[in-house]
Amino acid sequence: MKLRPATADDGDFLADMLVAAVNWSPAWQPKSRRRVLAAPNTAHYIAGWPRDTDLGVVAEADGERAGAAWLRFFPPGDPGYGFVAADVPELTIGVAAAWRGRGIGRALLHAVEARAKEAGIARISLSVERENFAQRLYLAAGYEVVGAGSEQSDTMVKVLPSRTFT
Ligand SMILES: CC(C)(COP(=O)(O)OP(=O)(O)OC[C@H]1O[C@@H](n2cnc3c(N)ncnc32)[C@H](O)[C@@H]1OP(=O)(O)O)[C@@H](O)C(=O)NCCC(=O)NCCS
Repeated sequence: MKLRPATADDGDFLADMLVAAVNWSPAWQPKSRRRVLAAPNTAHYIAGWPRDTDLGVVAEADGERAGAAWLRFFPPGDPGYGFVAADVPELTIGVAAAWRGRGIGRALLHAVEARAKEAGIARISLSVERENFAQRLYLAAGYEVVGAGSEQSDTMVKVLPSRTFT
């Protein structure tokens, strides 16, 4: 498995991973790609990729894209589900179904945090449904619940260690 920075060419794949993240529960009727990319509250996680301040990582395995994690800043007037502040980017993460449960999600999370630290980002936020096992992944990685996004979901934040110059 290889991790690399996400590029402009990865837009369609990131959109696939956004659709996977929206449709995380096998118990629900999945939303179509078209619907996810047309609804403003989900489309804004990927619309116009890459923006100047977007930052992402792609995992490749067996020569194919297996997953992606990326950060995007939102303004207060157009907040994501996990919005806490304009200077705190929100995480989106997804691993293609065939590649789940093999450590790729955890590796993507660590890699995108490392890139964020390099970029001088102090905090990362996200929104997760409490029933999604992904919440345990985030807790183990140091994210803390800072509020409830809805009856079913939590907003979580990780404070990144500040850069040290030697
Ligand atoms: C959530 C997701 C990104 C995690 O990536 P992954 O590659 O499957 O996860 P990893 O293999 O790195 O495992 C991370 C942790 O989750 C646990 N885990 C993985 N699959 C699991 C499952 N089906 N049920 C319960 N726990 C699971 C792992 O055991 C691991 O924890 P542990 O090592 O302490 O046991 C991926 O499963 C996914 O894309 N899911 C659908 C989209 C989604 O939910 N996105 C997040 C929305 S907030």
